[in-house]
Amino acid sequence: MEFPVTRMRRLRKSPQIRNIMSETKLNPEDFIYPMYVKEGLFDGYPEHINTMPGQYRYSVNDLVKKAGELEDMGLSSVMIFGLPLEKDEKGSEAYNKDGIVQQAVRRMKEETNLIVMTDICMCQYTSHGHCGVVKNGKILNDETLNYLSKIALSHAEAGTDVVAPSDMMDGRVGAMRKTLDLNGYYDTIIMSYAAKYASSFYAPFREAACSAPGFGDRKTYQMNPANILEALREVELDIEEGADVVMVKPAMPYLDVLKAVKDEFKMPTAAYQVSGEYSMLKAGIDAGYITEESVYESLLSIKRAGADLIISYFAPDFLEGKI
Ligand code: PBG
Repeated sequence: MEFPVTRMRRLRKSPQIRNIMSETKLNPEDFIYPMYVKEGLFDGYPEHINTMPGQYRYSVNDLVKKAGELEDMGLSSVMIFGLPLEKDEKGSEAYNKDGIVQQAVRRMKEETNLIVMTDICMCQYTSHGHCGVVKNGKILNDETLNYLSKIALSHAEAGTDVVAPSDMMDGRVGAMRKTLDLNGYYDTIIMSYAAKYASSFYAPFREAACSAPGFGDRKTYQMNPANILEALREVELDIEEGADVVMVKPAMPYLDVLKAVKDEFKMPTAAYQVSGEYSMLKAGIDAGYITEESVYESLLSIKRAGADLIISYFAPDFLEGKI
């Protein structure tokens, strides 16, 4: 049927009609909120992250309190990043049973009903800032797997529901699954940062988490932004190794990758709207160039492209109804 019988504008007539006709909807449970916990902070004095306006580094007590407030507003999941006081070559604080993340996870599980996810990586914990063990200026793959497995196990012991390896070493998902299963943690979920690009959009995070590499860059392990077929291979391998959920990161500049991953594998799929995406939108809003509606659009685009879960610093704003 053609015009004038067919009129596309009929279904756009009012906010109510537009709402029931919406093909994509954002729900509170779609969101995972990334939070930073820092060792040595005083309670009641969260540190503002200058590169990410509105985001903070928290002490364990403040982290749990803030997360509890967000849970009351409908949040389901948090992703915890730790900042230790001490760093060394091997990132040993990352697998310390009483490390900052392990403490935070224990308290979070005791005091909230939130799903707790933890980032598994070494870069915040190593003196050189790389995501693996370094020898003669090289980031060693196979040696790193033991460390990542130890970190994942220590998080599982603390009670994390989901471990999320973000290092991009080959074979890490399989190594981690094996270690978790050998120790009886069959039910610990692995959400792998499967297609993680070597992106300049992580810059604000590296300031936030003090994790910038001390030399070189991450291009020998994170993916080349030019590639999509390679992303499909990465995702396929992670699924074969036992990933329960796969992730594409960053989100907005890689929506084509996200869609291809969802269409090809039909797996539970997450997308990470990273620090640079957050800060860019936030700066635009603060300058008055765009409004919060642009954030809503950005989140819709991520969901439309195929994300079941969205890791976003905008989660609190969404829950508060600001976007
Ligand atoms: C650790 C890690 C990074 C991010 C999540 N986990 C930084 C990086 O790889 O350099 C980025 C998160 C963000 O930008 O919000 N490897």
